[in-house]
Amino acid sequence: MSAFWHWFVVIITLVFIAVMVWLFIATGKARVPSGTNKEGEETTGHVWDEDLTELNNPMPRWWLWLFYGTVIWSLGYLVLYPGLGNFAGTLGWTSSGQYAEEMERATAQFQERFGELSQRPLEELAMHPDALRIGRNIFAHNCSTCHGSDARGAPGYPNLTDGHWIWGGEVDQVWHSVYHGRQAVMPGFGGALSDQEVTRTAVYVQQLAGRQVDSTLAAAGQRHYDMLCAACHGADGTGNPMLGAPDLTRGIFIYGGSMDDLRYTIVNGRQGVMPAQRDLLGEARSRFVTAYVLSLNENSNGSRDD
Ligand code: HEC
Ligand code: HEC
Repeated sequence: MSAFWHWFVVIITLVFIAVMVWLFIATGKARVPSGTNKEGEETTGHVWDEDLTELNNPMPRWWLWLFYGTVIWSLGYLVLYPGLGNFAGTLGWTSSGQYAEEMERATAQFQERFGELSQRPLEELAMHPDALRIGRNIFAHNCSTCHGSDARGAPGYPNLTDGHWIWGGEVDQVWHSVYHGRQAVMPGFGGALSDQEVTRTAVYVQQLAGRQVDSTLAAAGQRHYDMLCAACHGADGTGNPMLGAPDLTRGIFIYGGSMDDLRYTIVNGRQGVMPAQRDLLGEARSRFVTAYVLSLNENSNGSRDD
């Protein structure tokens, strides 16, 4: 907040409170020209329908004190907590600070309860019912937004149950994907290839994936592929898990395998990001959720136990 807005907020807030107090004191003192009714009670002097009068009693004391109480409370609040422009409050409280504190406490508790279990080898955790229960829970809360509640993925987000791995399916590789995250970089070739050349290359990719295609177009596309794509995806198209360059021969495309999808990928490139869980979940939770993902693949032939 700039200095101007800081003072803008401070002055408006304080003037507002002061005016409220002044208004109460002033109107409390002011006495409307009054009369008395038949019972001898003080009235404002207004009379309706011959004998209907408005009594002129002061506001009840408890009500006034309630009002002054809220004023005092609000001033106290503004001194202790952030609320007046940039002023941070004397307690130094922040919502993010409170969040961090609570998270830290929760993590410490989790560590105490499950830390030991989490240190067992991932292969063992992938068969341990308690670990898998925790892992499934963590997955539902932290991963399913992208990978789907059944972990079968969505366009742009890989299926984690099909045994087809972009970054490798060894235990260490899956752990790395989860804990350290992944950043894929597929450059766009819209500048290097003409429209027609893009189409031919896409046709060749479809042939790699095992589809029936026009062989003349595919042969022309292969020349571009060998020159521009083989370095990452391999001469035979089977990919390179070190770079996260997917195997193009399996017929599985996270960004789609239609002519339009492939052309889009080739022209614009793709930069998929798997967020690192190290700072998000911490180590113990990351281990459980990795074990859960591994377990989905051990039974990926249809006998998943959920
Ligand atoms: C610098 C390395 C590199 C080069 C060169 C490269 N790619 Fe890629 N490619 C990747 C990476 C990494 C990905 C994964 C992108 C992602 O996951 O976001 C990818 C993804 C793809 C995909 C999407 C796969 C899917 O599952 O949807 C296709 C199709 C593809 N590349 C084709 C090509 C073609 C055709 C060329 C040559 C014109 C090419 N790539 C050149 C690295 C490369
Ligand atoms: C913000 C979306 C997002 C969230 C949340 C997310 N992921 Fe991912 N994840 C991705 C994307 C995108 C990729 C593919 C990166 C690429 O293009 O290569 C990926 C890749 C992976 C891979 C590697 C897949 C392969 O084929 O090699 C694993 C394993 C994985 N995620 C597990 C998880 C787990 C476990 C969680 C929860 C703790 C999680 N992801 C949360 C987006 C996400």
